[in-house]
Amino acid sequence: MNKVIGTGVNRKDGRAKVMGTATYAAEHQIPDLVHGYLVTATIANGQIKSIDTRTAEKAPGVIAVFTHKNAPKIFKPSNDFMNSKIYEARLPLADDKVHYAGQIIGLVVADTFERARDAAHLVKVEYTTQKPLVDGKEASFKEAAGMFGEEMKFEKGSFATGNAAAEIASAAAKVEATYKTSTELHAPMEPHATISHWQDANSLTVYEPSQWVLGTQRTYAELFGLPTERVRIVTPFLGGAFGSKAFPWPHGILCAAAARKLQRPLKVVVSRRQMTANTGHRSETEQTLRLAATADGNLQAIAHEVKSYTSPVDVFTEPCTSITPVMYAVPNLRLNQELAVMNVGTPTFMRAPGENPGMWALESAMDELAWALKIDPVELRLKNEAKQHQRQGLPFSAKHFAECLRVGAKEFGWKDRAKQPRSLTRDGKLIGWGMAAATFPGLRGKASVKVRLLPNGTAHILTSGNDMGTGAYTVVAATAAEALGLPIEQIRVEMGDSLLPDGGMAGGSMMTASLAPAVMSACQEVLKTAKTKTAQEAFANLRQSGRAAIEATASTAPGAEAKKWAFQSWGAHFCEVSVDEEIGRLRVTRWVSVMDIGRVINSKTAASQVRGGVIMGIGQALMEECHFDPNIGYPVVYDLATYHFPAHADIPRIEVAFVGEPDLNFNPVGARGVGEIGITGVSAAIANAVYHATGKRIRDLPITPEKLL
Ligand code: MOS
Repeated sequence: MNKVIGTGVNRKDGRAKVMGTATYAAEHQIPDLVHGYLVTATIANGQIKSIDTRTAEKAPGVIAVFTHKNAPKIFKPSNDFMNSKIYEARLPLADDKVHYAGQIIGLVVADTFERARDAAHLVKVEYTTQKPLVDGKEASFKEAAGMFGEEMKFEKGSFATGNAAAEIASAAAKVEATYKTSTELHAPMEPHATISHWQDANSLTVYEPSQWVLGTQRTYAELFGLPTERVRIVTPFLGGAFGSKAFPWPHGILCAAAARKLQRPLKVVVSRRQMTANTGHRSETEQTLRLAATADGNLQAIAHEVKSYTSPVDVFTEPCTSITPVMYAVPNLRLNQELAVMNVGTPTFMRAPGENPGMWALESAMDELAWALKIDPVELRLKNEAKQHQRQGLPFSAKHFAECLRVGAKEFGWKDRAKQPRSLTRDGKLIGWGMAAATFPGLRGKASVKVRLLPNGTAHILTSGNDMGTGAYTVVAATAAEALGLPIEQIRVEMGDSLLPDGGMAGGSMMTASLAPAVMSACQEVLKTAKTKTAQEAFANLRQSGRAAIEATASTAPGAEAKKWAFQSWGAHFCEVSVDEEIGRLRVTRWVSVMDIGRVINSKTAASQVRGGVIMGIGQALMEECHFDPNIGYPVVYDLATYHFPAHADIPRIEVAFVGEPDLNFNPVGARGVGEIGITGVSAAIANAVYHATGKRIRDLPITPEKLL
């Protein structure tokens, strides 16, 4: 029996990606394709008084100019989360109102991209302008309604047990502090782009980077009044998504509408500048945490109050309080989420939405409490570990958080930690060590997979689920290789097409937990259909009989287990920083992450996911920052050169280890997923190390040089 699961397998799609043969949305070659360029608002609040398209229409190569005055027909979709959601509830070109800078107000279509872009600049717009609200300090807050479905709203909104306020007032030890994060922009390597190709007035193919082709298929069908099967979404490869490519954005909707009207295949590519404003960002957050503990470090109360911002045209709450009932056992708990509207584009999911900024605040506050109590921060966490989810009232399944802490501390050499801030120097720089916990829920959806055995000795695995760069192709192949007893080279995987069996969504770190059980089940099913014990026997029978293929499909879904258990992944980060106080220069010099994610299917891509999360977290901690221009409302950063995030030279070697056991309560494969947990806790570990190095407690991200002087 060949053992594939758990080993480190190279990416199935690695070669295609480095050779440039992996086809991304904008690269599909469609005959007679024309090009659209978005016209976007240059004010952040007001109304279009006049829009003059005459010069643009006469420019060379121009085919059409769309504005709110001749907007193509679009139907309002049901916009249910987990069914057919669009990112922004207001449809493109709906009326003459402008709600944020960068909002789409027109589309110029021409025979080439350059001519469309040139003509877009010839559209003359006059506005009636009102003062935009783009400064969070001027916003007014109210209780967050939450954009999540009813079921999830319970998880993420306000909540209280006991009496946190009274407990905090009388506590032996307490921490009360406010922690901030900056607006963060999505910056996947592959920018947003859509090609819409109508085969006839009622059959649409969309090439679009999508984390969820089946959901996107339903959504486009509703937007254009079509039966679902008349829409096909094709996304074999994504160049990163991180939450920004789960549902259609206005540019994609407008592209399909214009293509239908023109009866021409149409491509719309969104520029980096436009992407900063109209394809989602993570809202800035302000979180007030109050912790109360006994003198020997038993937590008695946590109050966590969160403020985040949404756009005037949709509601998205950054659900930071999702982690608070999960991490530490506490009899008195109070959670509150507030939301304010600003004249900015609609914020959205970004890797560990809620969990990431939530853990920044909670894990910073825990460090402050540890210093206040003179208790080792690892000890403080071990002492207060939660045995159950305090909101669901359910015990955690296969939880090995304590092992993450112990193994991480040992690997890092934590016991040799200097006991006082500012007590460690090297080459004239201050050195500090910090740690923080990591967590992310185990989510799983239903999934279907088809397996086809061919006489040439290969097995094809087919499912609509997407690989957004995470390694899903490889995880599917490894699971099938093990289930069929074949070398992984004999497995071929096709994904990312709505014609394939429903593989669910690549979001919420759930692709592996959803797909792997379905792959297992379909592989068993195909051997049953073949009436053989092994795939080799099935191949021999195929060759003998002259049959073209043997195939089987299987579907798997979560059952009643979520009523008995809370599923959650765990981790711990340990890091070292050096700080040159003369120039405010901070370097992350060492990193150890230990994760408990249930069963690890591919140790190589799993470790890469954690490293990617840590790197993205270092970006959040040290560099990623976005303000909105008070006059024009646009983000003041506007491309990959002005929006800073880490390069290789900023990143130390990142050691990743996995502990724990397969979570077989969760699914038959025992995997909980690993896409998002890596980023959680990273910024807190760094700020905690900065405190250890310098004695300065930084509560406002990013930790840019001037904060260290
Ligand atoms: Mo993720 S933020 O669930 O794509």
